[in-house]
Amino acid sequence: MNLKILRKDLLTHNTEGLIVGRFEGRNDNPLMKQLNHALDGVLSNAMKCGDFKGRINQTALFYSGNKISPQRVLLVGLGNKREFNLEKLREVSGTAAKALQKLGAKTISTTLPQILEDIFTRQEMGQTVVEGTLLSLYSFDEHKTVKKDKAKDVKTLNLVMSLRDKGIAKLEKGAIKGQLISEGVYFSRDLISKPGNVATPSHLADEAVKMAKGLGIKATILEKSDMEKLKMGSLLGVAKGSCEPPKFISLEYNGGKKTDRPYVVIGKAITFDSGGISIKPSAGMEEMKTDMSGGAAALGTIKVAASLKLPINLIAIIPSAENLPSGSACKPGDILRTMSGQTVEVVNTDAEGRLILADALTYAERFNPQAVIDLATLTGACVIALGHHATGLLGNNEGLKHLLLKAGEDSGERLWELPLWDAYKKQIKSDIADMKNVGGRDGGTITAASFLSKFTTKYHWAHLDIAGTAWEKKGRSYVPKGSVGVGVRLLIKFFENELGIEES
Ligand code: BES
Ligand code: MN
Ligand code: ZN
Repeated sequence: MNLKILRKDLLTHNTEGLIVGRFEGRNDNPLMKQLNHALDGVLSNAMKCGDFKGRINQTALFYSGNKISPQRVLLVGLGNKREFNLEKLREVSGTAAKALQKLGAKTISTTLPQILEDIFTRQEMGQTVVEGTLLSLYSFDEHKTVKKDKAKDVKTLNLVMSLRDKGIAKLEKGAIKGQLISEGVYFSRDLISKPGNVATPSHLADEAVKMAKGLGIKATILEKSDMEKLKMGSLLGVAKGSCEPPKFISLEYNGGKKTDRPYVVIGKAITFDSGGISIKPSAGMEEMKTDMSGGAAALGTIKVAASLKLPINLIAIIPSAENLPSGSACKPGDILRTMSGQTVEVVNTDAEGRLILADALTYAERFNPQAVIDLATLTGACVIALGHHATGLLGNNEGLKHLLLKAGEDSGERLWELPLWDAYKKQIKSDIADMKNVGGRDGGTITAASFLSKFTTKYHWAHLDIAGTAWEKKGRSYVPKGSVGVGVRLLIKFFENELGIEES
C-alpha cells in the first residue's frame, strides 16, 4: 500500500473516494460544508431526509459528477463526539476503506485527521487511521486458484490535510508506524489462516527464520533431539502422536541495553489440535488449525518490535507441535515428566496446550526475564466465560496485569481478569503424579492457568487466553472474517507504555 500525506484543496484533489467524517448532532465539519456547497447541497439533503445521521460507522455515498475532482464522497458517521476515541477512529477508518474497496476504488483519500485535531495528537491519528484502513482491507487468497481481481485492490491511501497546514511530519511518523504495525498483524494473520497441512511446525520455523533475517533478530530452532537433551518431556509427549516433527522456536531481539533484562513472550503453536486420543467432535474441528494463534502473535510482536526499533530486549518462544491420535500418541493416564522435573498425569490428551507451554515456561527461566507473557488459545471455557470480546487475563503479578489491562484498553484488544486463587489448585491434584492436566469443567480457564502457574514461580508472569478472540466468525470494521492477529497490537502498546514512549 502506498501511503501519502498531502496538502491539497479538496475540491481539486483527484481521488476515487474521499472520506469525510461527521459527528452525530454536530454540524461543525467545515470540510463537509465546503463539499456540500460545491455539490449543490446533496450532503445536507441526505441528512434532511434522515438517511444519514452521523451514527458511528454509518455511511452514505455520493457521486460528484464533474462538479469537483473527487469521483465519490463517502460520509462516515463518527457517533457522539464525547464518546469518540482511538478505537472508534480505527473502526470508522476501516468501515470507510472497506466500503470504497467494495466499489473498486484504487485510490482513496481520508480527511479524518483534519477534523480531529482537538481530540488526538497528530501521530496518534496517523497511526490509527492507517491501522484501521490496512487491517480492514486484509484478505487471504493464497489457496484460491482463481485469484480475486488484484487490479481492483486499494493501492493508495492519501491522508489529506489543508493547503494552509504547517506540519505533516508527525502525521507521517504515525502513518509509517501504523503501517509497520499492520504488517506485523498481517504476518500473524497469514500464518493463522494457513491450513494445518501447510502451516506445520516446520513451516512455522522456516517462516520465523525468514522473518528474523534482515530485522536483526537472532533465530534458534531446537529440534526434537535438542528437546530430548533438555528433557522437555511434556512437549515431546504431545508431539509423539504426529509424523510432523515438533519445533521449538526461539527468537531474540536486542534493542535495549545489554544489562536490560528481557521480556519473554511465549506463544502456543499447536498447528492442528484434533484432541489426540481424547479426540474432538468432528463438527467445527477444522477451526483447530488456528490453535497456533498464540505462536503467530508472538512472531508478529517481535517482528513489529524490531521494525519499530523499540529499545527493549525481547525474546519470543514458540513451542510447536501437532496434536494427533495414532499408535504412537500419548494416551489418557500416561504420565509425562516435564523439563521442570514435575510430573503430570495426562487425563485428557486434548488439554495439550498447557503441556507444551509448561516446558516453554521452564525454558524461559534461563533468560532471567523481567516478565514473561504467554498467549494461547487454551480453553473453550474462556469462550464460555467471556465470549469473543475479551481475552482472558491471569497472572502472578499485580503490576504486570495492570499494565496489560491498560494496554488492552488503549489498543482496543481488551482483556478481562479472572482470579488465580490457590483454592482452584485442588482441582488439578493427581493421585499418582505431581498434578494432572485437567481440573474438570468448572472454572476451566482458571484451572488451566493454575496448571501453568506451577511452572512460573521464578518470575513475573501473565497468561492471555485468546481462545475466544483469535478468530473472527462474522467480520467487523477493521477485522475481516477469519484470523484476527490478536495480541500483536496489544503487546506493542504494552511495551510502549512501559517505555513511556510519548506520542505528540
Ligand atoms: N485448543 C483448545 C481450546 C480451544 C477451544 C481454542 C475452542 C479455541 C476454540 C484446547 O487445546 C482444548 O482442547 N482445551 C480443552 C481443555 C479440556 C480438555 C480441559 C477444552 O477447552 O475443551
Ligand atoms: Mn486441545
Ligand atoms: Zn489446543
